[in-house]
Amino acid sequence: MITSKELKNKFLTFFAQHDHAIIKSASLIPENDASVLFTTAGMHPLIPYLMGAHHPSGTRLANVQKCVRTGDIEEVGDYCHLTFFEMLGNWSLGDYFKDQSIRYSYEFLTSKQWLGLDPDRLSVSVFAGDEDCPRDEISAKVWQECGIPVDRIFYLPKKNNWWIAGNSGPCGPDTEIFYDTGKPKCSDNCSPACDCGKYLEIWNNVFMQYNKSEDGTYSPLKQKNVDTGMGLERTVCVLNGYKSVYEIDTFSSAVALIEQLAHVNYNQDDKSTKAIRIIVDHIRTATFILGDQMGVTPSNLDKGYILRRVIRRAVRYANTLQMPKGSIAQLAKLYIEQYSEDYPELIQNQQRVIDELNKEEEKFSKTLEQGEKEFYRVIQYIKDGVIGGGIAFKLYDTFGFPLEMTIELANEKGMAVDVEGFKDKFSKHQQISNATAEQTFKGGLADASVATTNLHTATHLLLKSLRTVLNDNTIYQRGSNITPERLRFDFAFGRPLTAQEIEDVQKMVNDAIKRNLPISYQEMTVDQAKAKGAIGTFTDRYGERVKVYSMGDFSCEICGGPHAQNTGELGEFIITKEQSSSSGVRRIRGELRK
Ligand code: SER
Repeated sequence: MITSKELKNKFLTFFAQHDHAIIKSASLIPENDASVLFTTAGMHPLIPYLMGAHHPSGTRLANVQKCVRTGDIEEVGDYCHLTFFEMLGNWSLGDYFKDQSIRYSYEFLTSKQWLGLDPDRLSVSVFAGDEDCPRDEISAKVWQECGIPVDRIFYLPKKNNWWIAGNSGPCGPDTEIFYDTGKPKCSDNCSPACDCGKYLEIWNNVFMQYNKSEDGTYSPLKQKNVDTGMGLERTVCVLNGYKSVYEIDTFSSAVALIEQLAHVNYNQDDKSTKAIRIIVDHIRTATFILGDQMGVTPSNLDKGYILRRVIRRAVRYANTLQMPKGSIAQLAKLYIEQYSEDYPELIQNQQRVIDELNKEEEKFSKTLEQGEKEFYRVIQYIKDGVIGGGIAFKLYDTFGFPLEMTIELANEKGMAVDVEGFKDKFSKHQQISNATAEQTFKGGLADASVATTNLHTATHLLLKSLRTVLNDNTIYQRGSNITPERLRFDFAFGRPLTAQEIEDVQKMVNDAIKRNLPISYQEMTVDQAKAKGAIGTFTDRYGERVKVYSMGDFSCEICGGPHAQNTGELGEFIITKEQSSSSGVRRIRGELRK
């Protein structure tokens, strides 16, 4: 048996021995990048370096990155989907490329000293080639040299073997490594492209060498990079021959706690298994989002909404298992303990995690009660025994009452629900939110456009001005989101700003702009940055090197960049809004006008 901890240790040790600097996991909340709501892969925080910026730790990096992906939230409860996971990754920033990357992977997977997997159970896929990028014969050749026979090398199209985060930015062909679970082939055409369960992907090596621009065209990046990702939970599951990711060590204590709190057995029946899986997954996700160094709290918008959704879904399933109130906070405590060594921010933010979970559980229990009341009220008027799609959607949309709940209650009353009608209303609503999501994908620092870079620089000036005007040096960034049109900056502060304060802050930023301050950065250790008086939350590991950006004598802050070269390039800064973001956190929106 191999545990998660052992796999992490082996992975990091292997790459450290091959001269990779081990960097810490970045926040789950992408900084200065509006292209995604959460960090969905280890490469996200590294985008500026894949594009050519110099990384203070060098050109070979490896880490374990916490990730959240909620696109498949409805699938959670099956054997392999998770909304939070840890991703093992190694990177070459213009250093080694295909050949070395594949050889590292092969050695780590098959050498007795490392994972010792049977090479006969490995298959790989490589990019088949198209008008944007040639067929990847190089990777295929290296795999053959390693010992993978041609009949286990599959050429697949962009749909399978190409990686990009969002719609634009650094990207490239990839080679994916699959482990044969031993299941029989589902057909003569069975291949890693098939999801019958025979081939499970364990590692993805992306050869990031292109930049995709907004108009869909590809151009070569300044340097050829490697970005690899190995899903920790899935790999531990595969290596141990388990049937589902929920059987791995990571989840065993949480599952046991639910069994105890709900007097239920995980394997009792399909319904209990599914409910337990959803609860352990969702509460882990919520714990990491709330406990993040840039923690978000539940709300009806963007990240806060996603967080609210995972908590509520967990509460609902906890209700079906009749778990006592406060159970979800107990689960969170367990996760905090379990993960605090690797993620100390969880301990620092423990109180917030517990308080917010309890608050949300309380609120949602009321919602469920009201929804139930509304359900019993409306069914009195139903004559044909069918609850219309419109009613089911209203219960869902206005009362937060999930469709499964409506169906369950309807069945208890011997009634049916017009599910098609519901789906119809739902998809119309989805189209609207997709349009909003589309907007979110546009822009972002991935494009490194002048507009976003300038707004990023303005964000530094804003933070320094806020600290000065409000005379509070404990103010720090709680979130930043930049599109080419505007900046949005969150910071912890207990009250709204006065009109005078807003004006003073705006003026201070504009004065700094007018002074044409030169912008430069230096690389140093966290301790040196601290000694220099740089603004930063200093959660970085001891000894880790960071970049410190200075804007004349005005501002000095730990940051990965990129920035303008001189504040004079920015134009006029306008604060367009100051509002509450969540309890104890203020949000400022601002624009630059030429
Ligand atoms: N970015 C790639 C992925 O997420 C490899 O790390 O799969």
